[in-house]
Amino acid sequence: MFSKEIKEGTKKSHSAAENTKFVAGFLRGVVDPEEYRKLLTNFWFVYDTMEKRIQKTRDPLAKTLQQWQAVLNRTSFLERDLVYYYGPYWREKQVQSDACKTYCYRINEVADKDPYLLIAHHYTRYIGDLSGGQILRGIAKSALQPPTGEGLNFYDFPRIDDAKEWKTNYRSVLDTLSLDEHQRNTLITEANYAFRLNMYLFDEVKSTDAYPALTALKGFWKVITGSIIKNK
Ligand code: HEM
Repeated sequence: MFSKEIKEGTKKSHSAAENTKFVAGFLRGVVDPEEYRKLLTNFWFVYDTMEKRIQKTRDPLAKTLQQWQAVLNRTSFLERDLVYYYGPYWREKQVQSDACKTYCYRINEVADKDPYLLIAHHYTRYIGDLSGGQILRGIAKSALQPPTGEGLNFYDFPRIDDAKEWKTNYRSVLDTLSLDEHQRNTLITEANYAFRLNMYLFDEVKSTDAYPALTALKGFWKVITGSIIKNK
């Protein structure tokens, strides 16, 4: 089944993404507000590009994605967050990074040449958002403490009640696509590239963790004390 193949085929990339300095730091609660808002800016460019290209595609395979966009689209949610992080004149402050340009370039390139490969980009971002997203939301919330309703819209999918069930349905649709072996392999290669494009974005984030070993120790301590409390 293709959904299993793509999951298996990107497993190593998933671990590599989780182990980038930025993501590993983020998971320990290290979040620099300036770097965080820059990342949101980059995501805004990426999602805007991807969502426009999906909306416009006439490719029969890529068109399958259109049924989900009313529920998944992130651009307007990111815009709400950008208003919070940059203020009312946010739009003129949006500058994409080099890695962001590379990412958007690739999305446009596949949309022009091999539009069915948009499926790989779709899977990598949205299924990622619906999987690790809630963990990341919690970390961003406690690190940045925005007022209720602000700054965390990116992580909210108000039209999805049960992410697990939603992903199961998504996977079953992926499994009904008529893809030949070459297309399946090329999609998996593209999904791995999409992970890499995300890693390029993360690698641009400047580290503000002056004492990474100490932060790691603190994280470890939190886990230990948390489990002692839980076991009491
Ligand atoms: C911050 C670190 C991350 C955490 C904690 C995390 C967590 C998770 C978890 C728990 C799952 C399994 C969910 C399930 O089986 O239903 C998952 C799946 C997934 N994640 Fe992540 N993730 C992280 C980073 C990323 C990144 C950076 C990407 C891509 C940009 C990504 C893309 C995906 C995808 C595509 C899946 C679906 C795999 C599949 O079932 O086909 N994740 N993630």
